[in-house]
This record gives sequence, structure tokens and C-alpha cells, in this order.
Amino acid sequence: MEACLEPGQKTGLGARQVHIAHANLGKSQFQGPGPNSGNELTAADLHHGIVGTCPAGPELRLRWDSEDDTERFAKRLAALPGVRQAYLELQGELGAGKTTLVRHLLRALGVQGRIKSPTYAVVEPHEAGHGAERLRIWHFDFYRFNDPREWEDAGFRDLFASPGLKLAEWPDKAAGMLPAPDLVLQIRLLDDPSATEAGAPRELRVIAPTSHGQALLEGLRP
Ligand SMILES: Nc1ncnc2c1ncn2[C@@H]1O[C@H](COP(=O)(O)OP(=O)(O)OP(=O)(O)O)[C@@H](O)[C@H]1O
Ligand SMILES: [Mg+2]
Repeated sequence: MEACLEPGQKTGLGARQVHIAHANLGKSQFQGPGPNSGNELTAADLHHGIVGTCPAGPELRLRWDSEDDTERFAKRLAALPGVRQAYLELQGELGAGKTTLVRHLLRALGVQGRIKSPTYAVVEPHEAGHGAERLRIWHFDFYRFNDPREWEDAGFRDLFASPGLKLAEWPDKAAGMLPAPDLVLQIRLLDDPSATEAGAPRELRVIAPTSHGQALLEGLRP
């Protein structure tokens, strides 16, 4: 079944509030966007694994039935050499699973120790590997970012100019300051009546706005 959306159609992201038990670090006062436009894919449209690609543009859709699927995807992404020098945006409503994907990605890249959520700090730095294999990673969460002066004061411009992997949750909260992402990873909870709240299936949509991202996306195709 064709899974592409036409240009201008909404992805349905943020279309429903999350009611799952989620340590959302005080984000739950957030009121998501209004009702969706009716263009969302339903679980019935999808089957396990790759469900469709857009012939007109580079994009990929996957269904995740559990966190194991998220982990598998993270391992495939981590195995692409190009991810070591990339900027990836994570989109999706509260509790969609953005931090979870980042954690699996960081583990797969070799980050050791506790992986904190950057919600209060806005950015958490990480490192993996040693010597020539050393990789620097910055995990941003712009949910509480509301002072544009912080962009310069906190040195975010320098971080984005540095070699390494940059990941950003809630990039729309720092719109106008961020560079073009190599990949946009949109995670959406699927309305699947058979799912328990905690284990709700997700749809991942991957979009590649840059040529570097397009090369990454090709590497993610099965
Ligand atoms: N693929 C998945 N399958 C099942 N549960 C998941 C999956 N991904 C995440 N979860 C669960 O959903 C909850 C919320 O995940 P997470 O914190 O990653 O969301 P988030 O998108 O980062 O939210 P926020 O916008 O608040 O930062 C967690 O309890 C996590 O275990
Ligand atoms: Mg998060």
C-alpha cells in the first residue's frame, strides 16, 4: 500500500495526547496541537518492517511494535559511518519515544554509563570510542529553550560547528537557529486497539533534507 503523503499534508504528529505512564519530566502541562487532519496512517495500513517509500522524495517508514524494534533500528543507524558527522532531528509528541531512540543509538555507538535526558540542561554531551575512533555527541532537548540569547551564551553555535553527532528533540522550539537537519526522525504513536498503553506501536518516518542525509537514508533501506 502506498504510504506517502502529498506535499503539504500533515504527518499527524502531535495529533493525540499521550496518556501512557511516562516520566516526562514535568512536560505534561504541554498542550499538543489540535485534532489531526485525518491524513494519518492507521495500523491497518502498515505491516511489520518497511511499509512504504516515497518515489518522489527520499523518505522511509517503519513500524515499531516494541522497543526491541527501536533498538534494532538504532543499531542499523549506528552502523553507518556517516552518522558520526550528522545532525539528526527527532520529532514527535510527548512520550513518543525520542529519548528512547537516542539512548539506543548512543549505546549502539559505544557510549558507556548512565545516559541522562537533557531536558533541564538543554544539552547533554557524550563521548564514545578512543583515539582516532573518538566520537563526540551532543544530545539536545529544546523543550524548555525560550531565550534566543542562550544560543550564543551557551555556545550552541560552536557545538553545531564542531565535528561529531548532534541530536535534537523539540527542534521547533529553537527554530531559526538550527542548521538544516541531515535526517528528520518523526515518531508517532499508532492508534492500535490491540496495544497496551505501555507497549503502543509506533510509526517512524525518516526524511532526508540534505544530500548527506539522503546517503544515510539509503543505508537504512533493507
Ligand atoms: N518503541 C517503543 N515501544 C514501546 N515503548 C516505548 C518505545 N519507545 C519509547 N517507549 C516508552 O515510552 C515512554 C516515553 O519515551 P521517551 O521518554 O523516549 O519519549 P520522548 O519522545 O523523549 O518524550 P518527551 O517529549 O517528553 O521528551 C517511555 O516509558 C519508554 O519506555
Ligand atoms: Mg525526550
